[in-house]
Amino acid sequence: MKTTEDALKKLIKVKLNKAGLSEEHAEGVADVLVHADLRGVHSHGAMRVEYYAERIAKGGINTNPNFAFEKTGPSTGIFHGDNGVGHVAAKKAMDRAIEMAKEFGVAVVGVKRISHSGALSYYVQQAAREGLIGLSLVQSDPMVVPFGGVEPYYGTNPIAFAAPGKNDDMITFDMATTVQAWGKILHARSKNESIPDTWAVDKNGEPTTDPFKVNALLPIAGPKGYGLMMMVDVLSGILLGLPFGNRVSSMYHDLSEGRNLGQLHIVINPAYFTDLTTFKENISKTMSDLNNIKPAPGFDQVLYPGQNTTIIEQKSRLEGIEIVDEVYRYLESDVVHYNKYDDKDPFAK
Ligand code: NAI
Repeated sequence: MKTTEDALKKLIKVKLNKAGLSEEHAEGVADVLVHADLRGVHSHGAMRVEYYAERIAKGGINTNPNFAFEKTGPSTGIFHGDNGVGHVAAKKAMDRAIEMAKEFGVAVVGVKRISHSGALSYYVQQAAREGLIGLSLVQSDPMVVPFGGVEPYYGTNPIAFAAPGKNDDMITFDMATTVQAWGKILHARSKNESIPDTWAVDKNGEPTTDPFKVNALLPIAGPKGYGLMMMVDVLSGILLGLPFGNRVSSMYHDLSEGRNLGQLHIVINPAYFTDLTTFKENISKTMSDLNNIKPAPGFDQVLYPGQNTTIIEQKSRLEGIEIVDEVYRYLESDVVHYNKYDDKDPFAK
């Protein structure tokens, strides 16, 4: 079914508020989730509300966190998340990084001890809207085999980037470092469909096409994606003195405990490196150059990185946001959560 941005935000806010979040924090989460749904990134949109509501209700997200920003150098700092809601902590931390990058040309801010923070595109776009380049990296729970390994070690450790173009244009690129998100395996299970053998491995580390035999996901581009995951883990985990690798807490294990995750925002002020107007013009030129490349057979047009989500966002704003009926029914209902996620083994059938 379809709904509007405002209606969806309101439903999410009410539900999370009912689960125990303050109005301000519930609204902050709703903003990030609806941003994802608007862009067609439904894996990180309203479908996550039920899981968050259960974690909040069970105490695994601090509903009254002591958020604090600790400036550790002229353009560095740590935003202490106190295991409060990750979306709000990451947004506030990016606000601080933006302030410092405006003043000093660059800023690096660690977001320490947070819960899941959703789609990273939201945070890097905060920077791009201010004429800055945003980069954000976050740890996630171990579900990916290292290249050549059998046991999961890293998470789907995403990387997001945004840069401002002319007028209100911007490029936003935001990807997990796995071939496919875990949500796509779950989707294949729900439809009893097979999966390509490039997505995941079974318990012996062999590629599998059976979504029910999946024991771990595969990194993008073999050893290269594996290396990127390592970089994300170092920058958002080890650098912040947090659990790293397979010590990172699981999304579904013990919903009464804080997750202690780390995220890193890097903001670069182009005006400290080149002429800002020219920079923005050249970002827009990059976008149009790529769009004007002759498409290969089977393609209508070359899109610039991330353009597919920008196109979906423009469409959703005109025609409404596509939401799975079941998710909408839950949001409309009086139920806070269905007690579905605690201690769920993500790989179990
Ligand atoms: P994806 O695989 O759907 O897309 C990855 C990137 O490729 C996006 O920027 C997308 O716009 C771009 N893209 C896809 N098709 C394209 C095309 N035809 N032309 C040009 N660009 C194209 O995204 P993925 O990897 O599934 O990640 C989804 C979301 O999950 C992201 O927002 C990410 O931040 C989030 N995530 C969050 C985690 C967390 O723990 N907070 C963990 C993992 C992912």
